[in-house]
Amino acid sequence: MENNRSSWGSNLGFLLAAIGSAVGLGNIWGFPYKMGKCGGFVFLIVYLLLAIFVGMIIMVSELAVGRKTKLSPIDAYQKVSKKFSWIGWLATIAPYLIMTFYTVLGGYCLQYIALNMTKLSFGNEAVNMTGGDIFGAMLTTPLGCVVFTILFIIICMVIVQGGVSGGIEKFNKVGMPALFVMLLIIIVRSLTLPHAAEGLKFMFVPGYAVKAGFIEAQPNLVSVLGTAGGQMFFSLSLAMGAILTYGSYLSKEENLVKNSVIIVFSDTLIALMAGIAVIPAAVANGIAQGTPVGQIKLGGPNLLFVTLQDVFTNMGKLGPLFGVIFYVLVLIAAISSAISLMETIAAHWIDKDLAKGENDTRKSRVFTVSLLILIGAVLVAADGLGSNFSPASLLGISTVPTFLDCFLDFFDCWSEGIAMPLGAMLMALMIGWEVGPDLVLDEVAHGDPSEGFKKFFRFCVKFVVPIVMAFVLAGQMIDFFGGNQMIWYAVSVIALVVFWIIAGTGKKAE
Ligand code: TRP
Repeated sequence: MENNRSSWGSNLGFLLAAIGSAVGLGNIWGFPYKMGKCGGFVFLIVYLLLAIFVGMIIMVSELAVGRKTKLSPIDAYQKVSKKFSWIGWLATIAPYLIMTFYTVLGGYCLQYIALNMTKLSFGNEAVNMTGGDIFGAMLTTPLGCVVFTILFIIICMVIVQGGVSGGIEKFNKVGMPALFVMLLIIIVRSLTLPHAAEGLKFMFVPGYAVKAGFIEAQPNLVSVLGTAGGQMFFSLSLAMGAILTYGSYLSKEENLVKNSVIIVFSDTLIALMAGIAVIPAAVANGIAQGTPVGQIKLGGPNLLFVTLQDVFTNMGKLGPLFGVIFYVLVLIAAISSAISLMETIAAHWIDKDLAKGENDTRKSRVFTVSLLILIGAVLVAADGLGSNFSPASLLGISTVPTFLDCFLDFFDCWSEGIAMPLGAMLMALMIGWEVGPDLVLDEVAHGDPSEGFKKFFRFCVKFVVPIVMAFVLAGQMIDFFGGNQMIWYAVSVIALVVFWIIAGTGKKAE
């Protein structure tokens, strides 16, 4: 069976694919606006600490479990753990839920590329509307959103059908360098706008966000921790099977620790670069238009599809060209991430077929998975972020917690909000207390980790990761469900304690 299983063409190909999975809308959209919401510099520091002490640990663990078992998540966890074998299901359903909205956002990117191409060809006045009007008009035209979502799904499907090295690796080998160059072009353009320095100060000068009036007050540390933690996991593609699946195609010779460091570093670098491309441009444009600093919109979906579109429109004749470059860049980032999620889901059935001796089922399996994704995605695309209908309106509820706002939030809540922090917490408990850290360290040992790394890994996986994840879980539940914060802290702590006891007691798995 193993002989027929897919594998990467080279370690560089794997790295580019893993970086492609990591670098996505989370970096280019989520990172800048969450940094904006959480007071700039403080967020950055918390994010970096979490990436080193938590992200790195889970990254190494997922790669190790994937490569050791050479299986997709459901079977991999079943093989490794007795008590937590069901984490694999979390790690397969969550990518499905993410795909239902990720593909819709990919469709929006396609629409914005078309929009800026129109402006480029026929003059800026061809679509003489503000970014806000354009976004609103797009959301209330469900047909267009559905059509472009389907187009995006087809693009991803064709790439994944091409295979691990023939499709995914090939796309990333061209896409990632192209993305990097385009990002540099946008950074140069953004930083040469008048008043761009204000945006840089917002990002890098401690306390400046509050002093200059961008936000009213510095949010408390626990809420920064929750936001930064959620962002870091999403951005690194962790705890949802994607990295595990990519690791399962990796050759035994490669050094997992070194690879993890490269992936975490690159993802963080691109997130920072995206921040430097986006925030100064948004701030500069706001100031030039006479908008008071506190009202420059750096948060939410508005940043990417309203504020930045205004930036490109106000740049004059060449603006639409930068618009095309920017939205193509975002599109590449979205595709490279979406294909990792699609592969994670499809790999389960492809592996099952291989075990039965059926070798050529990739194309049909990926097609079926794409259809399944389409079902959820049509709901998300048609509701237009709640402009047309929402889970709440369908249920006939009027005042609603965030998770019933629109189908995007609904699917996001169960995947990013619950499955991801819970999955990461359980994985750390499983490795730290049930099967023991040596399962990972022995697999890593093909690249022979130092004693220092072993100590660091054991300590983090046993204590730091589970405790931090409980905070992240609480933070997410507070965001999505609202109500009394103490209830959600209590729920998280109880979950942590119960699973910790389960992991640490009774018969050890062999
Ligand atoms: N990391 C991607 C982003 O930043 C999204 C993504 C791709 C993802 N694969 C994932 C998130 C797996 C969680 C798990 O946009």
